[in-house]
Amino acid sequence: MKVLVIGGGAREHALCRSLSLDPEVTSLHCAPGNAGIAEVAELHPVDALDGAAVADLAASLGADFVIVGPEAPLVAGVADAVRERGIDCFGPSREAAALEGSKAFAKDVMASSGVPTARSYVCTTPEEIDVALDAFGAPYVVKDDGLAAGKGVVVTGDLATARAHALACVGAPPRPSGPRGRVVIEEFLDGPEVSLFAVTDGETVVPLQPAQDFKRALDADEGPNTGGMGAYSPLPWADPTLVDEVERTVLQPTVDELRRRGTPFAGLLYAGLAITSRGVRVIEFNARFGDPETQVVLARLRTPLAGLLRAAATGQLAGFPALRWSEGAAVTVVIASYNYPDTPRTGDPITGLAEVAEKDEHVYVLHAGTRAADDGRIVSAGGRVLSVTATGSDLAKARERAYRAVDRIELEGGHHRTDIAAKAAEG
Ligand code: AMP
Ligand code: GLY
Repeated sequence: MKVLVIGGGAREHALCRSLSLDPEVTSLHCAPGNAGIAEVAELHPVDALDGAAVADLAASLGADFVIVGPEAPLVAGVADAVRERGIDCFGPSREAAALEGSKAFAKDVMASSGVPTARSYVCTTPEEIDVALDAFGAPYVVKDDGLAAGKGVVVTGDLATARAHALACVGAPPRPSGPRGRVVIEEFLDGPEVSLFAVTDGETVVPLQPAQDFKRALDADEGPNTGGMGAYSPLPWADPTLVDEVERTVLQPTVDELRRRGTPFAGLLYAGLAITSRGVRVIEFNARFGDPETQVVLARLRTPLAGLLRAAATGQLAGFPALRWSEGAAVTVVIASYNYPDTPRTGDPITGLAEVAEKDEHVYVLHAGTRAADDGRIVSAGGRVLSVTATGSDLAKARERAYRAVDRIELEGGHHRTDIAAKAAEG
């Protein structure tokens, strides 16, 4: 199978790594990719948001199968453009990807299918915003309706901050032109967060193993929200029935509802969950693999990846053999650039990568924002730069290996959290 992966982050590096280990994959391509992915796949420049350009590339390569990594191309309809060219593609249609692209749409789908989530108001005016903020009280949760690359959500105890973000989302005061934006204001959910991914063909749902992500920039969950600073799997503290329960109460009803609406969701359904004192609630849906959770989930998946994703893309998940998992654990630690998540500095040299690769077969470094400079050195090219991933018989072992490798890697001005999986590993 000739496979083309779209994207260029550590998630796509994790996907490419797993695909490169799958005997069914005879040729692997990635667009645009990054300096790490270049070691396992042939890279091609492409505007990932341009459906026609992606479809042209897939056709010119003679690709049998395209996998779209990030949300923006999905929301832009890139998967549709590839399928229209007669090429199998893993990734939901533009309409189904609205589950991630519009928080208001996701709320509406959950309401129709009885999926448990935070109570919420969708607001377009300052008056509605005030009513909603008053109804729930502090802590306030204010979400931009559209895609905002992890920056659209503000959780704060401060009313003025909450109100200012909500007003900025709807574009008041005063917005020069164009339609008013929408903002979702919802009740605060307490309790630990879990990311659960499911592969689905629009009808059958196959959940993967759960993971936990660390969203804040600094240790002890301090600092601003980020795309994710680290992750681990499995979750030793979670109820063993969690996956079955979420499949029954969240994943299957959501997939059934989208099919009923005539916009079936085929691809990766990512449920961001809060395990609250009143039960499981959906915080958000995403329409693609999560980053950095994918790095740890795929580190443990033993079932070859290409066949699983192709079965989802071609409506053949019913009867797919039960997934196989390693018994062990995986931990990934993100190394981010200076000033991430604000305005990350790029172009800083990275050293120690070769040494890590040689030292320990249980550790590998997945690249996010990296590129090869003209002199061949690897330099940073984005906010999240590397995902240092390790496996082990348990979380403590995997964690120790990951941090030993992190200590060997030097990125000027870079930072990472030191407490990824620390609590879970103790348990
Ligand atoms: P989202 O982009 O919807 O995943 O939100 C980003 C982060 O904000 C989540 O991972 C949570 O940590 C936090 N968050 C979002 N919604 C809520 C909520 N209703 N209650 C508490 N925290 C939330
Ligand atoms: N790790 C959070 C996300 O992928 O959205």
